[in-house]
Amino acid sequence: MTKTDAQDYAFYHVAPEENNFQQEVIEGLNRQPRCIPPKYFYDQAGSRLFESICEQPEYYPTRTETALLKQYASEIAAVAGNDCHLIEPGSGSCEKVRHLLDALQPSAYVPLDICCGFLEKAAAGIAEDFPWLEVHAVCTDITDEVSLPFIPEQADAVMFYPGSSIGNFDPVDARGFLACLANITGEGGGLLIGVDLKKDPGILDAAYNDANGVTAAFNLNLLRRINRELAGDFDIDTFAHHAFYNSDRGRVEMHLVSEREQTVRVDGHTFEFSAGDSIHTENSYKYTIDEFQALAQQAGFTPCRVWSDREDLFSLHYLRAA
Ligand code: AVI
Repeated sequence: MTKTDAQDYAFYHVAPEENNFQQEVIEGLNRQPRCIPPKYFYDQAGSRLFESICEQPEYYPTRTETALLKQYASEIAAVAGNDCHLIEPGSGSCEKVRHLLDALQPSAYVPLDICCGFLEKAAAGIAEDFPWLEVHAVCTDITDEVSLPFIPEQADAVMFYPGSSIGNFDPVDARGFLACLANITGEGGGLLIGVDLKKDPGILDAAYNDANGVTAAFNLNLLRRINRELAGDFDIDTFAHHAFYNSDRGRVEMHLVSEREQTVRVDGHTFEFSAGDSIHTENSYKYTIDEFQALAQQAGFTPCRVWSDREDLFSLHYLRAA
């Protein structure tokens, strides 16, 4: 672990040493059906494209959740209590937490993200705009076991996991991840989590196929990243973004589909594609409120409060580790 310090702002780097990206891409392209984990979307360009997705008119989750955070900040503070250590796994731009900090008055804010450059900038911005707040930024892969040595044993820990990122795990892995969060917060710790709700498939299909093509660019950026970092030769123009709601599985699926027969090389490995062959790049599971609460209970959380918008697009849950 490396650490750089400045008064009430500290940056820790605990990213894994080994090259997981190379290994997971080669393994994923050798699998049938082919798949690559969605966490690899988020290099600098991918993180920027995701920011832009959040601003697209069809992508309702960000603005709906932000409105809930603004509207219910004081109710959230009442249930979470003041002076907590507020930990945000996958913090990205750290934008949403801004709506909570004044009401919540945490004693420290701990953003965790896999994209170090992006995290450094976002966390420094929080430290500057909220000078009363201690900020400990940790660059790490949150899907690995995370230990946070600077959180005092007796501190009240509250996890903040917005954006329905929990939907990017399969339900079994989601339960495992929630159980890890319960472990980090310890008994009595809290979790404020945003969860996208099941709804009219037309709304979901539009949200993942925005008219400006930003989600398509985000999906295709994965191939650009492979070309750049893993000596790949994907011809980006011959792959198409394909996203749709799979109602049987309760999830939006994203794929990259080869438009013709072709051979692709990555890091010395060769892969044959026929026209129509896909690489499955993401699942985004949607839940009803009851389904999500049942999942959280299996992971060791007790549901305390839930807030949702009038159209029942999105939900925000406060859970306590049992
Ligand atoms: C980060 N995650 C919750 C987004 C989602 O909606 O599943 C990622 C995303 N993929 C396409 N658009 C947004």
